[in-house]
Formats: sequence, C-alpha cells, structure tokens
Amino acid sequence: MAKSQVSMKVNGKAIDALVEPRTLLIHLLREQLNLTGAHIGCDTSHCGACTVDLDGKSVKSCTVFAVQAEGSEIRTIEGMAGADGALHALQEGFREMHGLQCGFCTPGMILRAYRLLQENPSPSEDEIRIGISGNLCRCTGYQNIVKAIQFAAAKINGVPFQEAAE
Ligand code: FES
Ligand code: FES
Repeated sequence: MAKSQVSMKVNGKAIDALVEPRTLLIHLLREQLNLTGAHIGCDTSHCGACTVDLDGKSVKSCTVFAVQAEGSEIRTIEGMAGADGALHALQEGFREMHGLQCGFCTPGMILRAYRLLQENPSPSEDEIRIGISGNLCRCTGYQNIVKAIQFAAAKINGVPFQEAAE
C-alpha cells in the first residue's frame, strides 16, 4: 500500500514518518516511534487507554489516523515529566494517592486529567468524574484516581491539598 510522509511534534520533538493511509495514531506512536506508554485496551474508542493530547484536545489515538495528525503537536505520557526527570504534579498525585493498581489505564488517565486541568484548573469532584468518564479503569474503583487529580490540582494551584472524607 502506498505510504505517505507525515510530520508532527511529539513531546516537543519534530518527527517524520512514513505511514499507510490506514495507520492509526496509536500504532504510529507505539510501533514506529517506540512510545509505548499509551496503551491499546479496546481499539474501539471505549476504554481511553490510548488517550493522548493533540493540539490542546484529549483524543483516543486508536480513533485517529496518523495522517490526520499531520502538522499537529502531540503529548504522550513520555512527555509529562520535566527534562530533569521531575514528575508532573499528576504523576506525583497518582503515586501519592495510590491512583493506580495494574497501571494499564494510567497513561491515558493522566493525559486526560492533564487536559481537564488545563480547561478547568479547580474542578469539583463531580467535574473530575465527568471529565474522566471516557477513560475506564477496571482496578481502582476510581476513588483514588479522583483524589490523585485533586492532589495535582492543589499542587498546580499552590494550595494545600485536603483529602475529602469518604
Ligand atoms: S484503545 Fe483506544 S479507546 Fe480503547
Ligand atoms: S489501574 Fe488497572 S485498569 Fe486502571
């Protein structure tokens, strides 16, 4: 099948790749760019494990063709920590609040939460739950994921984190 050249920025780095018209963004990321943090859980746009940030929007990268990402800026979990290795507030939140168990959903959850906090820096618990409703977790029951995002929001906003009573 004829291949097309695509160019985009991934985690701040310009990349070029040759892709088939049918190549999905998740396959470009995982198989050609070796960015295996975004996972494939369903391949049918249900689970959110493949979520990445594309031009300021959360997208499920199993439902985007690589050619559609031409010229875009993408962030994946590999681009969340600082250049010095310092964890992003969300990564810290998931660690501190035990927001993961098997970790399969975590890269997608963190990327979704990243965009949620960009759009709404101080979300309520309900807003967090609605905001991550496209991302499924089969392990945690979500409570600690919500706390992890609240922890990150507090850290980013420079206010003390107060754990809500359950
Ligand atoms: S693998 Fe993309 S939504 Fe499940
Ligand atoms: S931590 Fe296992 S699926 Fe979410």
